[in-house]
Amino acid sequence: MNPAYRNVSSADAEQTTLVAVVMGSDSDLPTLEPAIKILETFQVQTEVQILSAHRTPLEMIKFAEESESRGLKVIIAGAGGAAHLPGMIASVTALPVIGVPVKTQSLSGVDSLHSIVQMPGGIPVATVAIGGGLNAGLLATQILGISNQNLQKKIINYRKNLRMEVIDKNIKLTQFGTAKYLSEM
Ligand code: RP5
Repeated sequence: MNPAYRNVSSADAEQTTLVAVVMGSDSDLPTLEPAIKILETFQVQTEVQILSAHRTPLEMIKFAEESESRGLKVIIAGAGGAAHLPGMIASVTALPVIGVPVKTQSLSGVDSLHSIVQMPGGIPVATVAIGGGLNAGLLATQILGISNQNLQKKIINYRKNLRMEVIDKNIKLTQFGTAKYLSEM
C-alpha cells in the first residue's frame, strides 16, 4: 500500500480501506475533520489525503483511476473556491463521490457549493451543505450500510441518540422556561 494512505481507524488493521477522505488543501482539513471523526467512531476503515485538482492533477487522476481496484467504496472530497476536486474525481471513477463545499473568506463558500453541485448530466456528485463534513461522513456510512448490517445498525442507533437528545432538551425547556434554559446554555 502507498505509504501516503493513512488509516485513521486502526481497530482492525487487516480490514480493507473503504472510504477515502480527500481535500484540495490542508486548509480544508478542519472542514473534513467531522467526517473523519464520525467514520472513526463507526470504525470504518478510512484514509485521508491532500489531492488538489489544480496543484496535483496527475496525482488526483491516479488516485481516482486506482480507487475501485484498491477496494475503496466511497470517496468524500472537500474543496473550496474553484472547487473542481469532487467533480474531477467523479469523472474518472464509478464510485460514489460525496462533495463537501468548504467555506471561503471571499464568497462564504457559495463559490465552492456552486462549483461542486452544478455537475453536468451524467457525472453526479452527492453534495452536502457548505461545511457539511459530518453529513458527508454519515452519508458514506449509510452507503456502506446498504451491504453491511452492522454499520446500518450504528446509523440507526446514532439517530436514536439524536432523537433522545431533542426530547430531553424539550423536557428541560418546558420545565425550566426560556430564561433559565438560555442562562444554562
Ligand atoms: C482549493 O483552494 C482548496 O480546496 C482550498 O479550499 C482552497 C485554498 O487552498 P489554500 O490556498 O489554502 O492551500 O483548491
